[in-house]
Amino acid sequence: MTMPADALVSIRDLTVQFRTDRGWVSAIEDISLDINAGECLGVVGESGSGKSVTALSILRLHARGTARAARGSIMLDGRDLLRAPERDLRRVRGGDIAMVFQDPMSSLNPVLTIADQISESLRLHQGLSRAEGRSRAIELLDLVRIADAPRRADEYPHRLSGGMRQRVMIAIAIACRPRLLIADEPTTALDVTIQAQILELLRDLRAELGMAVMMISHDLGVIAEFAHRVVVMYAGRIVEQAPVGTLFSAPRHPYTEGLMTSLRGRDIPGQRLGSIPGRVPDPDESIPGCRFGPRCAHVEAVCRAAVPALVSISENHDVRCTPRSQALAPACL
Ligand SMILES: Nc1ncnc2c1ncn2[C@@H]1O[C@H](COP(=O)(O)OP(=O)(O)OP(=O)(O)O)[C@@H](O)[C@H]1O
Ligand SMILES: [Mg+2]
Repeated sequence: MTMPADALVSIRDLTVQFRTDRGWVSAIEDISLDINAGECLGVVGESGSGKSVTALSILRLHARGTARAARGSIMLDGRDLLRAPERDLRRVRGGDIAMVFQDPMSSLNPVLTIADQISESLRLHQGLSRAEGRSRAIELLDLVRIADAPRRADEYPHRLSGGMRQRVMIAIAIACRPRLLIADEPTTALDVTIQAQILELLRDLRAELGMAVMMISHDLGVIAEFAHRVVVMYAGRIVEQAPVGTLFSAPRHPYTEGLMTSLRGRDIPGQRLGSIPGRVPDPDESIPGCRFGPRCAHVEAVCRAAVPALVSISENHDVRCTPRSQALAPACL
């Protein structure tokens, strides 16, 4: 696969392993994906499918000594982030690529004012004074639509609601105008109405600032509203990727179909996916062939023979399902 001209970040054949009692175990395997400049890439899959491991690997945020990239590359501006020196990574983190997580409270420092936390990276990366930092922080609070920004700037995190804290986290993330914002389940911990507001904010900011967003969610409804392109992950691998319209109108992987059925079948917004019988296997579980096989209603003998390859079945639409991709792939001449 060559790197498209507009790819901002290009991940190739990424395999990340964790140290366990039984040696190194692969949590994600052979992940190849591009995040294009300005686009929103949705990453969806049940708990344990490897979404966060993939995202954390981009910024090398795994706890030191616990994880290793056994294979692959993550290219940004012609550099492989997996092999870049730590001091280069520090410039990338918060500078070119920023991240927001699920739990805004644990990421905020309780003893620093909102303004100090927002301006920290600006003072570090851009050498702003404390006063300049405070006025930039107020601008950023306005940008994330926090009312009465000058007063809020001088408050401490415990004074803010969950939704406002997540807005502050987003303000911190966009302070240095990143080209890519990775949002890992940014609304999962919030009430449903607040979830919708935060998603709307992220959508507007993406358009206003022209940044790419990698939106990670277990919720296909969130992905449907937000993403241009979708990557579906299962048990550490990409099983399908397609533009959002294609994925929803013509899903090809039985796992994606299962996610769709559970989306249509649910009556409580934000509910965890749950209608596919069975569970995601642990990374060290040995399963012959397709790792979705034991849960798949369409499983055949060929599925157990070998791990299916990710096959392109039409432009920008890839599927990892041997029977289906054989039936759908364009014939080679
Ligand atoms: N630090 C770690 N040490 C060992 N195994 C890990 C570690 N972090 C993640 N894993 C394993 O890697 C697999 C993928 O985990 P990951 O956190 O990426 O899933 P996820 O798709 O983000 O799920 P969720 O929706 O619950 O956030 C899981 O089986 C998990 O147990
Ligand atoms: Mg996760």
